[in-house]
Amino acid sequence: MDLPAIEELHFEDAPAVDSPPGPESRRLVRRQAEIESGAVLYPTDVPIAFENGKGATLKDVDGNLYLDFFAGIGVLNVGHANPYVTEAAVEQAERLPHTLDFPTRTRVELIETLDEIAPEGLRGRNRVNFGGPTGSDAVEATIKLAKRVTGNDGLIAFRGSFHGETSGAYSLTADTKYKRHYTPLLPEVEHARYPYPFRQDGSPEELVERALEDVQTLLGDRYGGMANPAGVWVEPIQGEGGTVVPPEGFLSGLRDLCDEYEVPLIVDEIQTGMGRTGEWWASEHYDVTPDIMPMAKALGSGFPLSGTMYDENLDAWGPGGHTGTFRGFNPAMRASIRAIEYTRHHDLLAHARELGAFIVDRLAECEAENPHVGEVRGKGLFVGLELVTDDGEPAPDLLETVRTTCYENGVLVWAGGRGDNVIRLLPPLVMTEAQAETGISILIDAIESATD
Ligand SMILES: Cc1ncc(COP(=O)(O)O)c(C=O)c1O
Repeated sequence: MDLPAIEELHFEDAPAVDSPPGPESRRLVRRQAEIESGAVLYPTDVPIAFENGKGATLKDVDGNLYLDFFAGIGVLNVGHANPYVTEAAVEQAERLPHTLDFPTRTRVELIETLDEIAPEGLRGRNRVNFGGPTGSDAVEATIKLAKRVTGNDGLIAFRGSFHGETSGAYSLTADTKYKRHYTPLLPEVEHARYPYPFRQDGSPEELVERALEDVQTLLGDRYGGMANPAGVWVEPIQGEGGTVVPPEGFLSGLRDLCDEYEVPLIVDEIQTGMGRTGEWWASEHYDVTPDIMPMAKALGSGFPLSGTMYDENLDAWGPGGHTGTFRGFNPAMRASIRAIEYTRHHDLLAHARELGAFIVDRLAECEAENPHVGEVRGKGLFVGLELVTDDGEPAPDLLETVRTTCYENGVLVWAGGRGDNVIRLLPPLVMTEAQAETGISILIDAIESATD
């Protein structure tokens, strides 16, 4: 199959909606609420049932067409049901879906391909582990590996962070809303400050200095409270925390500290990886090489797949060091290889940078005129827009109104942030400029009408 142009991937007419949610969406959402777990979240905010996805567009069960600005939370970087990806995954599913970790050509080819796109400092000198299919599982792997490598047990993470919801990953995750029901988690975990220029007083340099000071205290101060540090876990740009882009000097400062104190730097690229920010990995914006790098979300291009890449010198665990029944699902691996090929062929990294800049510029016009738009920030197609009240406080109710107006007009946006007030835009990297223009205009209109 030829690699289709990005313009060919979508439902052409999107957005086109008739007062969603329609009757069939309402019926399915109601039925789901009757029979599925109370833990279901997304349809409580966007009560729509989807039928069909193409590129950067979605069709619901009533035939409404949407522009998708959240891509399954950064999963569908080359679009919903990209035919170039699906073709290979289906072929693999028909031939050989599940092989534990026996070698297959697919498995070996994916590891080789990941090496080609690895952060420069890891290229040609890394190992890759596949455990379970979720990001949280890869984070668990990073905790185990860091403990094995150092023989220590202290974990350093950051305020505002999200690393998943299994017990180890939850210990690193800073958000206490859900995890507070499940304590105690891992005992030796500390959260340092993460530089968040919009919400913290001080210059970017001062915020970086304070955050690094926190980490240095934990790593090196006898009275810092952490006896045996095993590593530092960081999102290069915080995702769930509200698309928080740290200033220059933060990630490189962490790199220096980890070198000085001889603990691994674990850069969680689960949400920021696979081209999302306009580089394959967000750490590349900061010229920092992670020691350990969990990957998931877009890795399998819509098929569940997670993995961890790490410096070959850290291959401290022997056979069975981190396993799981689904330690690398071959159709997801084929999908991953094809998604990487598609991304390279169409230079979607450059496209993500250009389209992201276009989106940020359009939203900056709104920021300049509307005091309720506190800040627009991001890298590539990882963009956040922080909504605030008249007093500059987080405005979660405003966000709810804007998100609802958006989907009623055929645009899907998601939310995050410490105050549930950041609109997060992470569309498929195959979104066209025309689609972005249409979608962002609808978003800006929604903000204007909600703040009139
Ligand atoms: C940075 C980061 N790490 C880890 C995870 C957990 O991944 P999963 O939800 O696949 O377990 C997420 C999920 O949002 C994430 O954004």
